[in-house]
Amino acid sequence: MHLPSLLTERFADALSRCPFASQIEDLDRYAGMIRPAGNPKFGDYQANCAMPIGKLVAGSNPRQVAADVIEQLRLDDVCETPEIAGPGFINLRLKDGFIQDRLSEMLADQRCGIRPVGSPKTILIDYSSPNVAKPMHVGHIRTTVIGNCLAKTLKFLGHEVITDNHLGDWGTQFGIIIYGYKHFGDPEVVRKDPVPELAKLYRIVHQLMGYHKAIENVPKYEAEIARLEDLHAAAIHEAESAVGKEAKKKRKSADSLAKKIASVKSDLKSARKAIAATDNDPVMKQRAQAHPNIGAAVLDETSKLHADDPENLALWEQFLPHCKDEINRIYSRLNVTFDHTLGESFYHPMLAEIVDDLKARGLASESDGAICIFLDQFDAPMIIQKSDGAYLYATTDLATLRYRQETFQPDEVLYVVDARQSEHFEKLFAVAEATDLTDAKLVHVSFGTVLGEDGRPMKTRSGSLIGLESLLDDAVQAAYEVVCNPDRLVKLDPPMDEQEKRLVSERVGIGAIKYADLAHDRTSDYKFNLSKMVALSGNTSTYAQYSFARTTSILRRNGVTADEVVERVKQSGITLTEDAERALGLQLLQFQEALQNVYDDYRPNHLVDYVYSTAEAFSKFNDQCHVLNAETEQIQNTRLALVVLTGRVIKQALELIGIEVVERM
Ligand code: ARG
Repeated sequence: MHLPSLLTERFADALSRCPFASQIEDLDRYAGMIRPAGNPKFGDYQANCAMPIGKLVAGSNPRQVAADVIEQLRLDDVCETPEIAGPGFINLRLKDGFIQDRLSEMLADQRCGIRPVGSPKTILIDYSSPNVAKPMHVGHIRTTVIGNCLAKTLKFLGHEVITDNHLGDWGTQFGIIIYGYKHFGDPEVVRKDPVPELAKLYRIVHQLMGYHKAIENVPKYEAEIARLEDLHAAAIHEAESAVGKEAKKKRKSADSLAKKIASVKSDLKSARKAIAATDNDPVMKQRAQAHPNIGAAVLDETSKLHADDPENLALWEQFLPHCKDEINRIYSRLNVTFDHTLGESFYHPMLAEIVDDLKARGLASESDGAICIFLDQFDAPMIIQKSDGAYLYATTDLATLRYRQETFQPDEVLYVVDARQSEHFEKLFAVAEATDLTDAKLVHVSFGTVLGEDGRPMKTRSGSLIGLESLLDDAVQAAYEVVCNPDRLVKLDPPMDEQEKRLVSERVGIGAIKYADLAHDRTSDYKFNLSKMVALSGNTSTYAQYSFARTTSILRRNGVTADEVVERVKQSGITLTEDAERALGLQLLQFQEALQNVYDDYRPNHLVDYVYSTAEAFSKFNDQCHVLNAETEQIQNTRLALVVLTGRVIKQALELIGIEVVERM
């Protein structure tokens, strides 16, 4: 049940019969201006159409328009008499009887009252897509968790969803492990224990590349700092001798220079740290000296792989399955699956053809030896083949787009990828539009960075990104300490045994990471704080899971099952008597709205907010309304129904977030 849609229909009908109807274009747009009420005192929803219409109707005003609309509204079966407030808001309060009937319907429906959409879309979601060959790290959480939640939610809404993990299984990272294997690897160890050994080789080569890059960068950073400091000193000097507006302007420019200096200084510090790490390690130092051109050499190995060099291709074939096993282990722990895993390598055979095709159609052309697509809206072209013949990330994405169009004919393609790739996607979408590669709506579902407590991208002490697996282990441990704390569990009968404690902390710990990630608006960065994430109170998965467990314990204490409650309510119906019951009931009816909001702007935080508000409404209800010693059987059945529905809705919503509930905690 999507309440705003129902209200919108009624408003559209009323507007069409208003005296001003013929003067207004696109009346339906105004009918859709239904919002949840800002303050429950004024009702449940408000219609905001009268203000804009009032401005358009000659000789009228918003309050008059509101009165005209109310006169035509046929809404008796749904709402109390609407009221006009302030400049022309129309306040709507749902009738208790309406809420009761909808709750009864919801109780009889296993889908929590969610109606599948009338015209389903085919939506392809490209998510997770890590570059394999190195262990997954904290940066992979967001795409994996956001993508998975979108996939589940849109599917539940009735859309045809296709998930595709666009693995980076063909890029420089393979050049890195191939180089590592050839120079530092022990074939025997790689054969026996490939996963940790390949990860080690990756780390060695990566560190050496970083070392040489840092050596190259230090003098550049130093020169840049000196240059900026001169400019800064000059700006300060000018600010001192200027007055009024001019002085303010100079001070502003000095401030912005100071910020730039701080940022380059921090880059310099990181570079020096990278150098010191290798300098202080005799084995690594010696390797660094023996491999001065490692950066170029790694690119060389990558190019050879792309040119089907038999040795490199054989190594790639040997390594890839192990890299996949490694990430699949994490996916299974996160309970994440994909319909397809078509990595970059899958598109390799299609790259030459797509470049030729774009050239033949006059869309791509040569410039300085490279093949480029020029776009009016961008200064730099999109390069699709370098002068040495190499293809790029963008070329693969173009081939992918065409393949997806031909294979799946999607209505929408969602790319759940870090905001730092925005420019890539802006260009890709512009090229797609200019070249007719697809008719799908393309969306970059971008997201910010996971930060450490210090507000900088989360790293280990040695400066590498934190491994995803150790992060999951830490979360499960933190959950164990919070949830399985003996003081908390005293009342559980029978007490939890160790096996149940492990199961509960795994679900709570992993759930906490997913929930906290989705709780933030995806476009902003957030600070990773494990103790906050697993806390029992506040907007956490622990609190939501606990609320669910409370619903089951209430049923247990009342000696009824959910099915029995459904049967009882079939006889007695639902009768709301207390405000807290009504508020919870209305909250439960708004589930579809929350899901629709997730789809409308591809933001799972709407769903998390919804879970939290539901848990809060349930907690208030629990404080104010007794179930066991309710005044009458009718009231008791109503309350039991609300408990059952709350449990179902929270369980279903958490399922869409990717979190499993537990019966007791
Ligand atoms: N493998 C890429 C990375 O780790 C992300 C790929 C996203 N998907 C895409 N079609 N470009 O940065």
